[in-house]
Amino acid sequence: MKASSLSFQAAVLIVIAGMAWGLQMAISQDHSAHPAHAHLNLLGWVSLFLFGLYYRRHPALERDRRAHVQVWSWLVGTVVMAIGVGLVHTGTVSAEPLAAGGSFIVFASMLLFAWLLFQTERAGASARPAAAPAE
Ligand code: HEM
Ligand code: HEM
Repeated sequence: MKASSLSFQAAVLIVIAGMAWGLQMAISQDHSAHPAHAHLNLLGWVSLFLFGLYYRRHPALERDRRAHVQVWSWLVGTVVMAIGVGLVHTGTVSAEPLAAGGSFIVFASMLLFAWLLFQTERAGASARPAAAPAE
């Protein structure tokens, strides 16, 4: 599967879960897990979809193993982080390592994305075609 397709499909599944979580918070009038809901949606929907758009615009990355590792690690890190933060904010303080572990995974994943992006942007700049010769 292309990195962008994986990103788009995972992002839309995550936002369905994130919106359901938001509705559950609103209906129960218990907003204590809101930081987890916020990060699940912003990392799992907005950021992941943005990665997908970038990969879709840069076809050379679509089948690059590093892009797949980046998307999967972001996905796993986001879910682990959201579960950990959600548990901590609802009273299970022992879930702190999950929140921390997930956070470091998404941070590492963002460093990988930064590497891919810088490499792609610099290659694009040097590969720009020379100006067409005058007629
Ligand atoms: C059915 C859809 C959604 C519902 C019912 C919902 C509900 C909620 C509720 C009840 C809160 C807690 C508010 C508070 O106590 O301050 C909240 C916070 C938040 N939600 Fe949602 N949400 C939904 C979708 C989304 C989506 C799609 C995003 C992001 C793209 C998002 C981002 C956030 C953020 C960033 C916060 C934290 C805001 C703050 O710190 O004040 N939500 N949401
Ligand atoms: C390693 C990654 C990240 C870590 C460890 C982290 C950690 C935190 C912490 C500790 C807070 C304060 C929560 C509170 O006081 O309740 C926070 C708030 C917030 N973060 Fe992050 N964050 C990360 C990434 C991001 C990213 C990538 C975004 C946006 C795309 C984001 C958006 C927000 C927003 C909107 C808030 C305020 C909403 C709230 O009260 O929960 N964060 N973050």
